[in-house]
Amino acid sequence: MSFDYLAHFGLSNHPFSKDVGDAELWMPPSKQSLLEDLTDAMHVRGSALLTGEPGVGKTCVLRALRNALTPTNFRLVYCQNTTVGRRDFYRHLCLALGLPRAATAGDLFLTVSTHVEQLAGEKVCPVFLVDEAHLLHQDTLDHLHILLNYHWDSKPLLSLVLIGLPELEERLRLRRNRSLYSRLHYRFAIGALVPDDTNDYIRSRLARVGSTRDIFSADALAMLHEAAGSSLRDTDRIATAALRTAARRKKKLVERDLLTRILQAEAEERS
Ligand SMILES: Nc1ncnc2c1ncn2[C@@H]1O[C@H](COP(=O)(O)OP(=O)(O)OP(=O)(O)O)[C@@H](O)[C@H]1O
Ligand SMILES: [Mg+2]
Repeated sequence: MSFDYLAHFGLSNHPFSKDVGDAELWMPPSKQSLLEDLTDAMHVRGSALLTGEPGVGKTCVLRALRNALTPTNFRLVYCQNTTVGRRDFYRHLCLALGLPRAATAGDLFLTVSTHVEQLAGEKVCPVFLVDEAHLLHQDTLDHLHILLNYHWDSKPLLSLVLIGLPELEERLRLRRNRSLYSRLHYRFAIGALVPDDTNDYIRSRLARVGSTRDIFSADALAMLHEAAGSSLRDTDRIATAALRTAARRKKKLVERDLLTRILQAEAEERS
């Protein structure tokens, strides 16, 4: 049975899968302008902070950024393994850059910073994207600003982008982290989604897989928004469950009553 709902709704693929191409991401005007601001920051080799609640679409924005920066001018390195200590953090960075892994934290740091200078000589700007940065160990946070210091702190050779939950910004505001925070000149927060965002998201993802008509009624969409809030990940999960159930019941429209039952079933599972 499992994928019958695709045939039932005439869809070419799973509409709410996380497997969406960088160029096919949902980009409403708010995300488009965030992407432009981030891209502009990278072009001046600025460093940035991007925060937002879980599932709001931070990592997807990074994927859109990857798509927007030309590989000849930028070398993007994505790190998400942030729960390790400082030495392992730099070790991962070396690995991601294809550099030999030195033994000590000091040598690892030197290897990375020498490479950054080499890239600058080739007119390539490295962009280090540190996702889940709210989980960074304090000893890594203490040190990161030094990675941004080249030629007596006069040359911006590298862009550092820290991405994480809203508490990341609170942490960076602490006195202890002010050297790093003051270097993150570009600060962005993805705010809460409004009902129109959820509607637009659902329509856009359904259209991407060939849907030409409304599959969710207006009040079902309103309810979905209320249940998922700003988490597109939750929206994906609930919307998929709704499509499956509607197909099983041979319904072509997801209406409020069906969504009510799905949400009730989820609530019962949790309790
Ligand atoms: N712009 C987008 N286009 C298409 N789908 C998106 C977009 N943004 C988010 N999504 C969907 O929502 C899911 C969660 O998004 P994402 O992983 O970017 O959230 P996040 O803010 O990084 O969450 P977390 O803080 O938990 O890491 C994605 O897997 C994807 O299915
Ligand atoms: Mg993420």
